[in-house]
Amino acid sequence: MTSEEGWSFSEIDCRASLKVDPEGLLVAEDEIGMPIGFIGLFNMTSNITYVNVFIVQKDLRGKGIGKKLWEAMLKVTKDNTLVLDGVSQMKGWYEKRGFSFEAHSASSYHGTLSSQESVTLQNPYNIVSLSDDIWSALIAYDQQIYPYSREHVLRAWFCGVDRYTAVAFLDESVVGYANLHWKSKKECNIRVLNADNDVIADTLLLNLLQHIPLGSNVSFILLEDKPIAKYFSNFKISGTEHKLFTKEITGIQTDKIIFHTGHTI
Ligand SMILES: CC(C)(COP(=O)(O)OP(=O)(O)OC[C@H]1O[C@@H](n2cnc3c(N)ncnc32)[C@H](O)[C@@H]1OP(=O)(O)O)[C@@H](O)C(=O)NCCC(=O)NCCS
Repeated sequence: MTSEEGWSFSEIDCRASLKVDPEGLLVAEDEIGMPIGFIGLFNMTSNITYVNVFIVQKDLRGKGIGKKLWEAMLKVTKDNTLVLDGVSQMKGWYEKRGFSFEAHSASSYHGTLSSQESVTLQNPYNIVSLSDDIWSALIAYDQQIYPYSREHVLRAWFCGVDRYTAVAFLDESVVGYANLHWKSKKECNIRVLNADNDVIADTLLLNLLQHIPLGSNVSFILLEDKPIAKYFSNFKISGTEHKLFTKEITGIQTDKIIFHTGHTI
């Protein structure tokens, strides 16, 4: 259903979400038990819930199935602050349901990687791939950007097969990180790129690109005020999404977020 919509949502995204909350997938079924729609959710903290993909099978839309899923989600999430990434067409619908705070908007890009640069940038930043011994440094850096711990969520997304995470250091300090995973052999999702400045972001990106074979279909979600890197000049925007909250959450350092997952807060 999600691929038909043109979304990059992958089995890794779905399984990571379920790892964080094994009961966080509400599925609508038809009379014979076939899945016809779903809505995902998981708790970011004890009182903030992320509402993940919300979708109904194309030929069954407009018959009230979405509303049933939505009501089931509200029943489970109770009084928690809710956060979601809503497509532009649905923004008004969500606003009417209390999602009146927007943190940022972002564009979904898709394209085929057709050129690669083998340059090494001359700068003081050192890029290493994520390993257990630098995990706590990455989490400490993440908490400079988000005012709550995302450790359980990042672990679900970053640890496992078919993923790669690059961490940027300046001396002993983490100054950025980026992650990607393979949706299939030929499809790669860049899921996160957070960095202290543009030079670090570019250095991390160059490192990621060295792990993506030419000819791969690549997707990422770029925050709207951030420039598009030259490697993606042939990429197309498939839609805009809005990070919407039911209550204001202050303290997220949006200036350090370049690519975001669209599937976590
Ligand atoms: C959004 C979606 C899950 C709703 O499921 P559904 O079974 O069609 O929804 P319902 O028949 O219960 O109607 C729910 C409401 O959604 C509204 N809605 C559905 N699609 C919409 C769209 N593209 N733009 C604006 N409103 C839309 C309906 O008008 C209805 O509004 P109402 O509550 O004011 O009457 C479904 O349309 C879908 O899968 N859309 C494509 C995927 C998508 O955009 N998901 C949301 C991502 S943020």
